[in-house]
Amino acid sequence: MSARPEPATLLITGGAGYIGAHTCVALQRAGYRLVVLDNFCNSSPQTLARIERITGQPLEGVQGDVRDRALLDRLFQSQAIQGVLHFAGLKAVGESSEKPLEYYSNNVAGSLVLMQAMQAAGVKTLVFSSSATVYGTPQFLPYTEAHPLAPVNPYGRTKLMVEDMLRDLHQSDADWRVGILRYFNPVGADASGLIGEDPRGIPNNLMPFIAQVATGRREFLNVWGNDYDTPDGTGVRDYIHVTDLAAGHVSALQHLEKTPGCLTLNLGSGQGHSVLEMVRAFEQASGRTIAHRFAPRRAGDLPAFWANADEARRILGWEARCSLLQMCEDTWRFQTQSAEAG
Ligand code: UD1
Repeated sequence: MSARPEPATLLITGGAGYIGAHTCVALQRAGYRLVVLDNFCNSSPQTLARIERITGQPLEGVQGDVRDRALLDRLFQSQAIQGVLHFAGLKAVGESSEKPLEYYSNNVAGSLVLMQAMQAAGVKTLVFSSSATVYGTPQFLPYTEAHPLAPVNPYGRTKLMVEDMLRDLHQSDADWRVGILRYFNPVGADASGLIGEDPRGIPNNLMPFIAQVATGRREFLNVWGNDYDTPDGTGVRDYIHVTDLAAGHVSALQHLEKTPGCLTLNLGSGQGHSVLEMVRAFEQASGRTIAHRFAPRRAGDLPAFWANADEARRILGWEARCSLLQMCEDTWRFQTQSAEAG
């Protein structure tokens, strides 16, 4: 009888964060063994226990920072890591203008140290969390991967800088297998209700804010602008269920395992939805009324953007499946259950 092959081991940076945690669930289910590195600056170790509870599989959690080269060297020496999914980073657009150096340090310097440690260890498979923010003001819609790259804030520039570093690295050494995934607007939560998006303080993003209005924690939603050139005047975005997004990572990694290269893909649903559509879908999912008021446009907001998601479908055979209603139902389940889950 032949022995079962050992599961491949992956390093997940930022694996306790919102997108990282959901991707950990998908990767464990796909048979990978995980080492999660997280400094918990915007997440909690409790999330790692919840991932284990969802999948019934253990993972190894390490508290630390991606900028800690000695720690990375120790991890690569002590574990048979075959690839890295790099989620660790700061992600608040407004804050990135107030504290740009923190963003360049965490996002750019952190990625550089990680790539250096990987190169030294001979680990050359990396999937990176990029963002649709790298496109900037739309020259055309939907954004394709070939759209010009011109981010308009420090956060977006950090993402583009890391993308450029990865392209240069792959150019210099074709053994690298690089996946650059440009996320649109991830929302929703794992169907268990155990993990989801749990921002500290007042949420910046639409879905967590709506969820807090539904529970009564916030009085009403400010709809930032109802005079855009969109069907109902409110901002339009491409919302994608975080479970679909997580599945996209597994597909990208499996593609890179078979096919070396530098892959750059939009991960979006390919559909735009307005703020008011989101409000109505959440009302339907929760059975609550979402009080809202129209307020002036938020500085720096784009009227509308959504993805052309054809490349991911063509190359990976992946596409987003969950409806807006499912996104809202799962967010609501997390919002109402996670406090009780312990
Ligand atoms: C923001 C970030 C983007 C990041 C994404 C993560 C900016 C400019 N961009 O995108 O880089 O990748 O989050 O999901 O911040 N809205 C309201 N009221 C609110 C909150 C939001 O009306 O209280 C509206 C916004 O005006 C926008 C839509 O809801 O039309 C979505 O906003 P948000 O969830 O903040 O995402 P983005 O601004 O698209």
